[in-house]
Amino acid sequence: MELLRADLVPPLREALTSAGFTYDGVAAALGPTAHAALGRNETTPGLRRTAGGTPLETLVRLWPLQSAVDVHHAEEALPGLVDPLCAAGLLERSVGSVRARVDVRPYASDERDWWVVSDLTPGLDGTATRVGADHVLGISSASSSLAQLTVRTPVARALDLGTGCGVQSLHLTDHAGHVVATDVNRRALAMSRLNAALNEVDIDVREGSLYDPVRGEAFDLLVTNPPFVVSPGTGELLVYRDSGLPGDEMVRRVVTGAPAHLAPGGLAQVLANWVHVDGLPWEERLSGWLEGTGCDAWVVQREVADPAQSSSGSVTPATTGRPTTSSGTTRGSGGSRSRASPASGSGGSTCAGPTANRPCGSRSGRTTSSSPSAPRSASGPAGSTRSRR
Ligand SMILES: C[S@@+](CC[C@H](N)C(=O)[O-])C[C@H]1O[C@@H](n2cnc3c(N)ncnc32)[C@H](O)[C@@H]1O
Repeated sequence: MELLRADLVPPLREALTSAGFTYDGVAAALGPTAHAALGRNETTPGLRRTAGGTPLETLVRLWPLQSAVDVHHAEEALPGLVDPLCAAGLLERSVGSVRARVDVRPYASDERDWWVVSDLTPGLDGTATRVGADHVLGISSASSSLAQLTVRTPVARALDLGTGCGVQSLHLTDHAGHVVATDVNRRALAMSRLNAALNEVDIDVREGSLYDPVRGEAFDLLVTNPPFVVSPGTGELLVYRDSGLPGDEMVRRVVTGAPAHLAPGGLAQVLANWVHVDGLPWEERLSGWLEGTGCDAWVVQREVADPAQSSSGSVTPATTGRPTTSSGTTRGSGGSRSRASPASGSGGSTCAGPTANRPCGSRSGRTTSSSPSAPRSASGPAGSTRSRR
């Protein structure tokens, strides 16, 4: 699956660049009030601020604000691209106007600017939006949290398991010689390929579940925030949030599979939810996952939620007991001591290395704060996104 012909990527990049469609550009065009409103999925203040018809205003209305724009304005902002983008299904045209069918969002770290293509943020202005099973999440607070707590030491090889739109991979290309990104969702793979091309970075994108696409390979750094809903794993599934496995089995497989794929001294950083089981301290349950691997883990439990508190409504009692979801961040260390930072998403999990180690140290990271479910909801922050680390 290819979302956009390769020859159209450079002119799209050129159009975004010349319009000033960057994190700072969009933030300035919106101003703080409209930017904050967009973060709450409200577009009216932003629409008021961007009525001037400049290319930047047109792109802000088209993508972050998901508004129909005048076709002449669209052609000015995206010269020669409106028809090809419509043909590719990234835009749609009706009489005299154009609107977005996928999102293009400026994203930035302290050092770098990127653009991220993903599916449209559902639920702007309270509209009821139904998303498809293969919906590709944009940058959520959980994505930012994982990006912020990832150790950014230069490494040779890094793995982004469950890459989605590829946001973790973009960060990894800054400090890893080779980045492998995997997912089971072909639409996500197509988006992460497009994002790599748009941002002129090399990402080795592969299809497959869990560690299947990297059998026999080792990595210095593994990052992942796997599907996060704790549920029986049945019923209607959205691939970005439902693993199709019961309870926290997906997280257990991620954690228990990590040691075999870590190079000596490697780290796995996992942001996830796990289940509390009556009569078994959660620390024991999680440390049991790493027994015999020779790896250490640092687990930060950020919060504990009762099933009834889960806004997804998907947290249901498991057969093993009365579960609550807990969240935090876990990471383990290989040959070196490693440090962990509190997570702000709603999850946490484990990491490992193939040699026995000392316990990890600690580091306080800057993370965004969030409610238990909001960071991982499909209607996460709608404004342009900056990630700090
Ligand atoms: C919560 S999203 C995280 C996306 C991205 N890493 C981020 O930081 O925003 C979880 C991702 O895991 C993918 N996924 C679901 N099941 C998977 C599996 N069995 N193996 C690999 N990836 C999977 C989903 O398609 C989705 O892209």
